[in-house]
Amino acid sequence: MKVTIFGAGYVGLSFAACLAEAGHEVLCADADPARIEGLQGGRMPLHEPGLEALVASGVAAGALRFTADERAACEHGELLFIVVNTPADAQGRVDLRHVIAVAAAIGRHRDRDALVVCKSTAPVGTAAQVEAVLGGELAQRGARHRIAVAVNPEFLREGSAVRDCRRPDRVVIGSEDPWAIGLLTRLYAPFIQDPQRQLLVMDRRSAELAKYAANAMLATRISFMNEMARVAEQAGADIEAVRRGIGADRRIGPDFLQAGVGYGGSCLAKDVRALTHAAERAGHALRILSAVAATNHEQKGRLFELMSRHFGGTLAGRTIAVWGLAFKADTDDMRDAPSLVLLERLWAAGARVRAYDPAAMPNARGIVGERDDIRWCTTAQEALQGADALAVVTEWEEFRRPDFAQLAGELNAPPTIFDGRNLYDAAQAESAGIAYYGIGRGRSSMLR
Ligand code: UDX
Repeated sequence: MKVTIFGAGYVGLSFAACLAEAGHEVLCADADPARIEGLQGGRMPLHEPGLEALVASGVAAGALRFTADERAACEHGELLFIVVNTPADAQGRVDLRHVIAVAAAIGRHRDRDALVVCKSTAPVGTAAQVEAVLGGELAQRGARHRIAVAVNPEFLREGSAVRDCRRPDRVVIGSEDPWAIGLLTRLYAPFIQDPQRQLLVMDRRSAELAKYAANAMLATRISFMNEMARVAEQAGADIEAVRRGIGADRRIGPDFLQAGVGYGGSCLAKDVRALTHAAERAGHALRILSAVAATNHEQKGRLFELMSRHFGGTLAGRTIAVWGLAFKADTDDMRDAPSLVLLERLWAAGARVRAYDPAAMPNARGIVGERDDIRWCTTAQEALQGADALAVVTEWEEFRRPDFAQLAGELNAPPTIFDGRNLYDAAQAESAGIAYYGIGRGRSSMLR
């Protein structure tokens, strides 16, 4: 099938490459000509495992092309996906400017029947707005062809976007139009093993809300576990054991129960804010989600609190090694990253930082800028040298199994680890003479 994807971000690009791999003819457009030029020249605008190779093979096979030409993009696809970003401000008001601009362009340029599919995360009612904009443009030029609008939210995660695209838990189709449902069912057929279970067809508004509800639920699980981590610390229990104890219950499930430095990234916090804002405008206060956001805000300061307490309230003159800056492993994305909160607090307290991240350092440097109180290190080991403590902020694979004896030797005595992702076994670190703090690990000696 001929498909146009508007938006070459994480979602748009991963989706485009997977559709091309599945045999569709894909044209991917973006309003940023530099991004398109880069992609045309084989340069990836972001770090996502497996994506570069997939894009390259799609391009080589002639199944995936890029364009900055709006008209060409509108003319190509019988399915036209809107996958542009929808930023939300601090109050949770969502900016739909980019979505509406694409809808208007399609209305101006598309000369044949088509299905427009809203994939960007956008408030309930956005598809209806897109339909109105399209309808307005078509009416203005007296066009008689049909352009339908469906909703198809995306649930892929950064860091495993390609895998999530190829093997989705479910595909939500928001449409009550049999023609649109048929097109989307055909499009997704290569990714679906069990249509009964994986293809969920519903009305557009429910599909729009399902996306927000999914991210709000995930955020809720994380904040819940971060609160339980506090309880575990006070109670002398270990949140990792508690996690296993509850995750084995099929009603709860094992995923998204990891206590840590708080959730970051481009979606969870933004979507919680947007949903809360939309509900408030409709006269309903979302008390649970307000608490979820407040807990997460506090949690981002948790590692610093542990450090501050350990160092007797004074971090001035201390040097802290920071492993991991990205908001999660396998990405270079720094949006809403908990590491940024830690860095700011450390600097405000007069500490210096030696930072290392396998992928996110260029983006982190772009945000933080050049300053004397951070040293950008080229290896994890280099970051340790002469530091008073190690803070682990991102769960990169390469941080998971350090040689504790060597690590203890690199850090100033007495060596200390603040493990914001609970990667390590407290007893193992302590047997190498390292003072160990995790999140919610009340059984480790330091928190008792
Ligand atoms: C999320 C949703 O998972 C995805 O379905 C949606 O399409 C986009 O938003 P993403 O932001 O890429 O994806 O990452 P995700 O894996 O969900 O992690 C979000 C944040 O939660 C990260 O900061 C991560 O470190 C944190 N997290 C995740 C935890 O703290 N504990 C967990 O158990 C899981």
